[in-house]
Amino acid sequence: MTRLHEKCALITGAARGIGLAFAQAYVAEGARVAIADIDIDRARNAAAAIGEAAIAVHMDVTDQASIDAAVAETVEKLGKIDILINNAAIFSAAPITEITRADYARTFDINVAGTLFTLQAVAKHMIARGKGGRIINMASQAGRRGEPLVAVYCATKAAIISLTQSAALNLIEHGINVNAIAPGVVDGEHWDGVDAFFAKHEGKAPGQKKREVGAAVPHGRMGTAADLTGMAVFLASSDADYILAQTYNVDGGQWMS
Ligand SMILES: NC(=O)c1ccc[n+]([C@@H]2O[C@H](COP(=O)([O-])OP(=O)(O)OC[C@H]3O[C@@H](n4cnc5c(N)ncnc54)[C@H](O)[C@@H]3O)[C@@H](O)[C@H]2O)c1
Repeated sequence: MTRLHEKCALITGAARGIGLAFAQAYVAEGARVAIADIDIDRARNAAAAIGEAAIAVHMDVTDQASIDAAVAETVEKLGKIDILINNAAIFSAAPITEITRADYARTFDINVAGTLFTLQAVAKHMIARGKGGRIINMASQAGRRGEPLVAVYCATKAAIISLTQSAALNLIEHGINVNAIAPGVVDGEHWDGVDAFFAKHEGKAPGQKKREVGAAVPHGRMGTAADLTGMAVFLASSDADYILAQTYNVDGGQWMS
């Protein structure tokens, strides 16, 4: 199937994990992709493994000059951007009494400001081109409800859900559909760090938190990055022309809304 034939996508934080799975799935559907990441060595390896349909682009979503340069490099090398996935983010966790201003500022800077100002830069390109576009923001089930030790990360993902709604309402007049995906618990390096945090704060054995959260998912297991690619392809395809401002749960049945 080539549902994204001749489309060009910029995917942030795509050197590994879910973003990389999105890049692979988009190329399999006929797209060309820019793997944009602060870890440029890993982005280059990822792009080389995918082949000529992928390029690696250095991008730090906390730095406006870096965002602008990455968007310009992608347009120069791929010719255009039809699809943006705002995927780059960091996890952060601490008891309320131990949250620092520095961690709060860094997490919001990457997860929220990074998403907003990358969306803004790509939206300007899409508006100037006059051919519409698709923007997908990565939210989380963490944005649907609070967690006792995860206040800041949860707040950033709630902000993504809200930003998605406002950006969608503002940009649809230009034919740009903005939506979001809210994954549940997805195994990978991100969750290796989450597991290590809970091992320290809840005295669990390494791997125990993963087993517990997996067993609590109605589907019966943690998700994989591959579980999310169908939604990312769908939202970028013409099948989703009439869909905007939504956040779709792809979480094995954890959250119902
Ligand atoms: N893994 C999960 O369980 C889960 C659940 C819900 C939502 N999500 C969301 O899905 C997305 C991808 O998650 P993942 O598990 O693949 O994460 P990950 O930690 O494996 O990958 C994140 C990527 O972002 C990059 N990155 C970090 N800071 C950056 C910056 N300043 N500029 C550019 N790139 C930067 C990293 O280098 C890395 O390649 C994130 O938005 C995450 O919050 C993940």
